[in-house]
Amino acid sequence: MSPTKCQDQVVLDLWHPLAAVDEVPAGTVQETVLLEERISYVSDGEGNAAVWRSRPELPAGSPVDIGTLGGCLPIKLAYGYIWTSLGTPPAELFPIPEYAEADRRRLNAATIGVNVSAPRAIENFLDMGHFPYVHTDILGAEPHTEVKEYDVELSVERDEIVATRCRFFQPMASTASTGGADVEYIYRVPHPYCSVLYKSSPIDESRLDVIAVFLQPVDQEHVRAHMMLCVLDEENEDKVIKRFQQTIFGQDKPILENQFPKRLPLDPRAETPIRADKSAIAYRRWLSQKGVTYGVIPAAT
Ligand SMILES: [Fe+2]
Repeated sequence: MSPTKCQDQVVLDLWHPLAAVDEVPAGTVQETVLLEERISYVSDGEGNAAVWRSRPELPAGSPVDIGTLGGCLPIKLAYGYIWTSLGTPPAELFPIPEYAEADRRRLNAATIGVNVSAPRAIENFLDMGHFPYVHTDILGAEPHTEVKEYDVELSVERDEIVATRCRFFQPMASTASTGGADVEYIYRVPHPYCSVLYKSSPIDESRLDVIAVFLQPVDQEHVRAHMMLCVLDEENEDKVIKRFQQTIFGQDKPILENQFPKRLPLDPRAETPIRADKSAIAYRRWLSQKGVTYGVIPAAT
């Protein structure tokens, strides 16, 4: 870890995910790292939780009653996770309206530590070009390697990047698939370190499965990637749905960890763009406009 902690006020003021609420043992202190700071949290297993900067008198594993805690950090329970902030966060986290739909399966597919910056991980999530090569015979297959023209916009009103009309041939788009199909994607980047993907549901063509990646920045070059699923699937057990996503992510992890440099260069000339990188270019520009410096190599001014 670098000797100086995060100085980036934009990033300090964001909400950051720490853990899937369902996976937190109730009533005892848990520890993690956020932006190079040790952070403790507790859940009572009944929908209440608290987060604070770790203190020696409350070591990990010790029992604690939420009602007795003072000096806590901001907290939000959303999309199945505990979120906090080290600065002054906005009142609301970005919306995912589908999360409230009663017939969906809502799962944390996995929380996985990865030696990469959060922005590099977001860019990989946005990139369809790697599907046939990295997720061979699942999310892509030769000869269907072309990334077709798609649209990218920065929604000023919602302050997020949206890529639409993304189409890709997928041999096995999800656990509910019965064969190959042209799958439609919509990508949202509503938070510098979070992305929400919508893809055609194999069982209901009028609706979309939702897969999100919420990155917890441990430091500038390490994340914990929390993978949220909110899908239509009445057949498969949780563990089967989770395993599918874990397989995909297991294929991405070595690719992510081999990225160089690990922090994302924001200078438009740093890496040669191709058409498939349209969403990546918009994302880099948006990070520059926001003034994000953590996890990136800012463009020279
Ligand atoms: Fe991937």
